Order: sequence, then structure tokens, then C-alpha cells
Amino acid sequence: MADKYEDEILEGEVSDDDDQEENKKEPEKYCTLCHRAESQVGKMIDLPNNIHICPDCMQRSFDSMNQQMQTGNFNYGDLLNMPNVSMIDLSSFQNQMGQQKKPKKKKAEKKEPVLDLKKIPAPHKIKATLDEYVIGQEYAKKVMSVAVYNHYKRVATDTMDEIAIEKSNMLMIGPTGCGKTYLVKTLAKLLDVPLAIADATSLTEAGYIGDDIESVVSKLLAAADNDVEKAEHGIIFIDEIDKIAKKKNTNQRDVSGEAVQQGMLKLLEGADVEVPIGANSKNAMVPLTTVNTRNILFICGGAFPDLENIIKERLNKQASIGFYADLKDKYDDDPHILEKVTVEDLRSFGMIPEFIGRLPIIFTMNGLTEDMMVQILSEPRNAILKQYQKLLALDEVKLEFEEGALHAIATKAMEKHTGARALRAILEEYMLDIMYEIPKDDNIGQVTITREYIEGNGGPKILLRGQEVPLLEGNH
Ligand SMILES: Nc1ncnc2c1ncn2[C@@H]1O[C@H](COP(=O)(O)OP(=O)(O)OP(=O)(O)O)[C@@H](O)[C@H]1O
Ligand SMILES: [Mg+2]
Repeated sequence: MADKYEDEILEGEVSDDDDQEENKKEPEKYCTLCHRAESQVGKMIDLPNNIHICPDCMQRSFDSMNQQMQTGNFNYGDLLNMPNVSMIDLSSFQNQMGQQKKPKKKKAEKKEPVLDLKKIPAPHKIKATLDEYVIGQEYAKKVMSVAVYNHYKRVATDTMDEIAIEKSNMLMIGPTGCGKTYLVKTLAKLLDVPLAIADATSLTEAGYIGDDIESVVSKLLAAADNDVEKAEHGIIFIDEIDKIAKKKNTNQRDVSGEAVQQGMLKLLEGADVEVPIGANSKNAMVPLTTVNTRNILFICGGAFPDLENIIKERLNKQASIGFYADLKDKYDDDPHILEKVTVEDLRSFGMIPEFIGRLPIIFTMNGLTEDMMVQILSEPRNAILKQYQKLLALDEVKLEFEEGALHAIATKAMEKHTGARALRAILEEYMLDIMYEIPKDDNIGQVTITREYIEGNGGPKILLRGQEVPLLEGNH
């Protein structure tokens, strides 16, 4: 799904100017070193492999060489002082060659986003659209709709200077598979803003093995098709944020934990970040551009395992003082324990206070119940059942699910403890036989999946075309 909508976003962005340029006979040449266009700097010197060098850069190279001849030492500094060049790295040089050869994007029709940023939709409208895709999680959807509404209102009116409206960065806490990533993806798709999803586990302090923190911004820039302005209104979702908690009891430098949190502080708040265009590492000879993160909405999400115990411990400690001291296990079975999370608990978990402070909106998402699982199977716009029904409809076969079958699938999924992710895997397993057998027989008109079939003691009901009563039972 992610790919599909990313394509949609990319398609939507190709502007009309591009198309006009495309009509010219020769594509414009760009200097391989400083990336200025031929129209700006004058005739290029062409080299094999689609390399072009502008007169300025050529002159500079010669000057450096000459100097070396005279003084006997080569001054690399001069070479590096060329505009936009950071460091020479041959491998990335080649990468770029590849990119330059890439043909321009084809003309794409401009699409109207479902929700238009310029006419910022009211929170209830944002939530109503989210409702069509995301089941349950009412509170999370409400908080997010309001936060997004405020954020883009702030961006659109740009009232930063008078009464500075604080940025509405969010922290989302919820068990695995409850829809955190899905919610953010859906939101970005509906708003038609570029979205970058980064994984906090791969981030390390700059200079260490791993992606440095600013790489999340270059991801966003890529998602915005290198359009800086568009990227500056985008959303960055940093998943698995709990994995960068401060490591306890360690004497080594914590390059992937606390240091990452510290490195992210300025991004969250709003800073000018220099990012390479079309690559994700800075130590390459790629042009740099500046992206301001002030209007980028940051959403952090994580499962925070064990956070419940920290909350319980705190509540129990409070309860053990004074009159109610005997109710020690009062919170053990509380399903809503996570909702009681405070900044204090997150700090005990290992998040540094400055970091949490920059995520003013903290909310939790619930684990899915069996009923929600049933709804997820059948209700969202792109529900899994609807997908299968559509597939079979192409063969003119009707696919039905008994209510009991849905519950049986949900029960099985609950046992796996991986949230809604399990649903597809389970369904896939049972649909395999059906998708295999049906196209064999042109007479089959309808298939009904029964509870017995899912529970392994029966088969699906199969009706032949034009028949009302079930004829043969499948032989699962
Ligand atoms: N509330 C929901 N409504 C509809 N579909 C859902 C919901 N929750 C989960 N799903 C489905 O389950 C899939 C997995 O959910 P998602 O990727 O959002 O999990 P997650 O909360 O990010 O988990 P993790 O912490 O493991 O990353 C989604 O692609 C979506 O199809
Ligand atoms: Mg996720």
C-alpha cells in the first residue's frame, strides 16, 4: 500500500513547467561538479559517460594543478571550495551519473487531494475520513485530527511571530499491530503531503555506523520529489522510538540511544538542516540544499514494552502511602493502564526530558479486541475481505463470509498477539485452496466461507451458478 500511495503522491507533483521543458529538443546539461545549468554558466565541456564540466570548475581545477606544480603541494581545499561540493567520493559520483541519465517523469494528471491543505478541513472532517480506513482508536484519531488541523493552520497563516503557536509534534504509544503506522500513512495520504517513515533503530549519532539523524529529512525531501517547499510542509514519522531509550548500566558511549535523542532535539524544534539531494549520505559529492524543519510535523511512535510495569509501579507506590495501602494489585488487570502514562513514566523508561518536552501531544492507542478485528476484516474501504471479493468477482464468482467465520479468524489472530497483522496471514492460508480450485470449474457461482472451514472441521459452501441450495461440500 505504501508504494502505491507514494506513487500517487509523486504523480501529483509533476508541475506543468516540467512539461514545457520537456518539449525542448535537447535536455539542459548540468555541471557534474557544481550542478549549475548550462544556461547559467555557459558552454559545458562534454566528457564521455554523460559527464559535463562547466568552464568555472574546469578553470578551478587547472588553477589548483598549476599551484601544485609551482609549490609542490596540492591544495585540495580549493577543489572543495567549489559551490555545493562537500567531498569527493567516487562511488556516489557514479550513482549520480545513473540519476542524471534517468528520463524525466512522464506527464501526470494533477490530482485533487481528498483533504485540501489550503482550505484546511475541520478536525471532525479529518476524523470522518480517517474513520473510513481506521477501525477503533477513537481517541487517537481525535487527537491527531486536532493536532494536524492546528499544525497546518499555523503553517498556513504563519503566525509564528506574534503569538507563537507551539508546534504540535506527537508521541504515539500503543502495542504492536494496533495501527500506528497505518494511521499516519492514511493521514498523509488523505492530506496529500509528503511523508517519510524512518526507523529509529537504524539511527546513530553522526559519524558512527548507521544513518545519521538528519537522514530523516533527506528521506522526506526524496518523498517530496526534491521539492524543498513541499518537503517543509511534510510529515516525518519516526517509528520504534522506544528503541532509542537511554541504555541503562552502560559505561560505553550510547551512540544509538541517548545521543540520538539529543541529536533530534533541534530537528523537532525547527532548524535549518543541510541535506544532500538525491542521496542519503553527506560525505558524497552531491549538491546540498537547506531544509527548514520548523513546519515539518514530527510524529513519533513506539510500542514501549514494559512501560505498563513502570506505570503500575508508580501507581502502586502512590497507593501504598496511607489509607489505601492494602490495594496493591489494584492495577494488575487494568486494560487501560497505558492511558495513565505521564511524562515521568517516559523518563523512567529512558527518554530524556528535553526530548519528551518537544513532543507536547502524547497519546496512547488501544490493543485490538476481537470485535475490532472482525471490523478490520470487513469494514475499512480497502478491507482484506473486499479485496478477495473483488478478485473473485473478476471470475464472476461471489464470495461470502459467515459471521461465525469472521469471528473464528479474529480469534485465531488474537492468539498470535501481533495485532491486525495476523489477519492477513491467516486469511491467506485459508483462501489459498479456494483461489486455486475456483478457476478450475466454470460452473461455480458462489463460495461461502463457514466457521467450520476456519476451525478445520468442515468445508466452504459452494453453490453452482443459478443454484440456491448448496450442492457439494469442499474437501478441506
Ligand atoms: N485500527 C485499525 N484499523 C484498520 N486496520 C488496521 C488497524 N490496526 C491495524 N490495522 C492493519 O494492520 C496492519 C498493521 O498495522 P500497523 O503497521 O499500523 O502496526 P503498528 O501499530 O505500526 O505496529 P508496530 O508497533 O509493530 O510497528 C496495517 O497495515 C493495517 O492493515
Ligand atoms: Mg509500525
